[in-house]
Amino acid sequence: MTTAIDILWASPWLLCIGLVLFVVAPALVAIEQTAPYSFKPYRWPSKIWSVDEIPNLTGKVALVTGANGGIGVETCVELVRNGAQVFMGCRSEEKFQKARNTIDKLLDERGPARDNRKKGQVLYFECDVSSLALAKKAATVFLAHPQAKRLDVAYFCAGAPSTWGARPLSEDGIDLIMATNCTNQLAMLDELYPLIKKTSRHSASSCRIIFISSNTEFWANLRWPLGVEPTFNSWKDVNDPRRSENARYAQSKLAQALLARKLSSDLSNENIACLALHPGEIDNDFVHRMLPWTQYNRYLAAIIKAILIDSRQGALTGLFAATAKEVDEKRLSGQFLTYPATIIQPSAFARNDVLGRKAWELQMDLIQGRNLPRC
Ligand SMILES: NC(=O)c1ccc[n+]([C@@H]2O[C@H](COP(=O)([O-])OP(=O)(O)OC[C@H]3O[C@@H](n4cnc5c(N)ncnc54)[C@H](OP(=O)(O)O)[C@@H]3O)[C@@H](O)[C@H]2O)c1
Ligand SMILES: *[C@@H]1O[C@H](CO)[C@@H](O)[C@H](O)[C@H]1NC(C)=O
Ligand SMILES: *[C@@H]1O[C@H](CO)[C@@H](O)[C@H](O)[C@H]1NC(C)=O
Repeated sequence: MTTAIDILWASPWLLCIGLVLFVVAPALVAIEQTAPYSFKPYRWPSKIWSVDEIPNLTGKVALVTGANGGIGVETCVELVRNGAQVFMGCRSEEKFQKARNTIDKLLDERGPARDNRKKGQVLYFECDVSSLALAKKAATVFLAHPQAKRLDVAYFCAGAPSTWGARPLSEDGIDLIMATNCTNQLAMLDELYPLIKKTSRHSASSCRIIFISSNTEFWANLRWPLGVEPTFNSWKDVNDPRRSENARYAQSKLAQALLARKLSSDLSNENIACLALHPGEIDNDFVHRMLPWTQYNRYLAAIIKAILIDSRQGALTGLFAATAKEVDEKRLSGQFLTYPATIIQPSAFARNDVLGRKAWELQMDLIQGRNLPRC
């Protein structure tokens, strides 16, 4: 029933991409190169919500995975600037130090936040989510930290580098993209729940669980001959070799969207909000890795720069989800957000609660050691 709609949905997008590539982008590049200032219509600040509206986060604790990445660093800057203690999950202390230097520089540049509130601090914990064991270890390391007495925001932003054509499995025998993007971070969350629940019971505003998904979740809907529809019936299905790398990426992002919806409904009696979101199309390492030719061609790099948003804006929607009081006032838990801090309706699959339960059960069984994948 949804097949025809899904494909129709896809074609206006293809049309838009064509228009952008062949008409809008060259025009913007021309303007970009002649204008005395950076002219980027898409970068106009959001009127909907801005980081100046972040509430006082003094006393709150946040945990961020993939914290040294493009979106991660910008997110940490604003959380710290508004008073939070931010545990930055990075794969090595060296990466953390480098990110911390950038954060200090940005904090100096931006100055204090609204009403001169005191800034918080960044802390390091080692966090690699490429296997279940490592992800669980990361949660344990965090929980053992003497300053991890509460957890107000769990922000899952880590993303594996593109595997271009190859389709590696994680140590646990599941598609590596699915593992890093979703399952292993759910394993972390599973360990963190007790602390989040405890925190939420003594907190006026809700605790937040945030998954950085992507609007590419939509592509996971495509059925044969365009795609292989996800069922989450088994790991064999998730790992299906007929799924291209992009389709696997989409599948993992769909799983995150489903997860946010499922957890939100499971946690509806708790003071905890859970959201998934698309951060926007961002000009950072992430995109450059996906489109390696941008590194070699100045012209193409300029097109990308002209039409995409930067990491600072890419962090906006996640910061809204993680801190804004509107999330409680408007009961946004379980919704899917997109740049700039706007609610949108995700694909029909991402709204399918039966599929959501299957995806959740499949992953939780693995996390709790009940069904090991056979490959
Ligand atoms: N950029 C976009 O246009 C866009 C669009 C939609 C969605 N997203 C999503 O936004 C998220 C953040 O992207 P970004 O733009 O900030 O990209 P990025 O700069 O590449 O950041 C990715 C982060 O994830 C970390 N990471 C990768 N593999 C990991 C692992 N196995 N364990 C722990 N950490 C790992 C990286 O750490 P290392 O430095 O150690 O590799 C890095 O800190 C991603 O989940 C991506 O899917 C981005
Ligand atoms: C922020 O909150 C803390 C703790 O509740 C409080 O001590 C501080 O005065 C607040 N700062 C501002 C500027 O309101
Ligand atoms: C998901 O996997 C893709 C491909 O490996 C990667 O590019 C992306 O950053 C990952 N996203 C997340 C949230 O882990």
